[in-house]
Amino acid sequence: MARTRGHELFRVATAMACLLCYTTILLGGNVMASGNGLACPDWPSCYGNGNLLPAFQGGVVAEWSHRVAAFFLSVSVLVVTLLALVYERGRKVLLRLSFGSLALVVTEALLGGLVVESGLELPFILLHLGIATALFGLLLLLTVLANLRELPPRVVAWVRRAASEVSDSPPSMALPRPEVPPSKSEVPFGQPRNG
Ligand code: HEM
Repeated sequence: MARTRGHELFRVATAMACLLCYTTILLGGNVMASGNGLACPDWPSCYGNGNLLPAFQGGVVAEWSHRVAAFFLSVSVLVVTLLALVYERGRKVLLRLSFGSLALVVTEALLGGLVVESGLELPFILLHLGIATALFGLLLLLTVLANLRELPPRVVAWVRRAASEVSDSPPSMALPRPEVPPSKSEVPFGQPRNG
């Protein structure tokens, strides 16, 4: 029972992290487009005085909202990883993707600081954008995989059809069949988990 609840928590947490990542990216684009990248010239606090709630004047709102979103994103990815450690040890792919996301979000937050400290050096900005998109891709994949069993049957059928189109290809491109039968505790893909 507690395990089922753990799986539920995990899949909701992945979706939350994915949404937060999307929001953070949008707010980052806003910082860039509004030219407010240096409205907060220091990191992690805006003016380097340790005050985490700066006066909202000028472009500070744009820059600070991006940092706050990044903070919540980092916390959500940490929660995803902890939940994966506790409840998803049996699903190694999910565990690895969670750790990969954690590594990327930590790198990205540190890099954000470097973007500011460098006075918006182009290589840092490009790397910052590159890691942001990779992180979103990873979180999206994790969310889809973690929620596969809860997807509407129509969507599951669509995924199956897409996969079977690959299986109809020449043998070299066919999807390999799993060698190990699913354990008793595992519900086959496409069937809802009861209880
Ligand atoms: C951790 C998750 C983060 C994500 C996913 C993220 C994502 C992004 C994205 C997508 C942009 C737009 C870049 C572009 O359009 O080229 C951006 C801009 C920016 N980010 Fe982040 N960011 C994160 C964290 C941070 C942090 C912690 C800081 C600050 C300390 C920061 C500082 C900046 C700055 C200053 C810009 C604007 C750069 C410019 O004006 O050219 N970011 N971010």
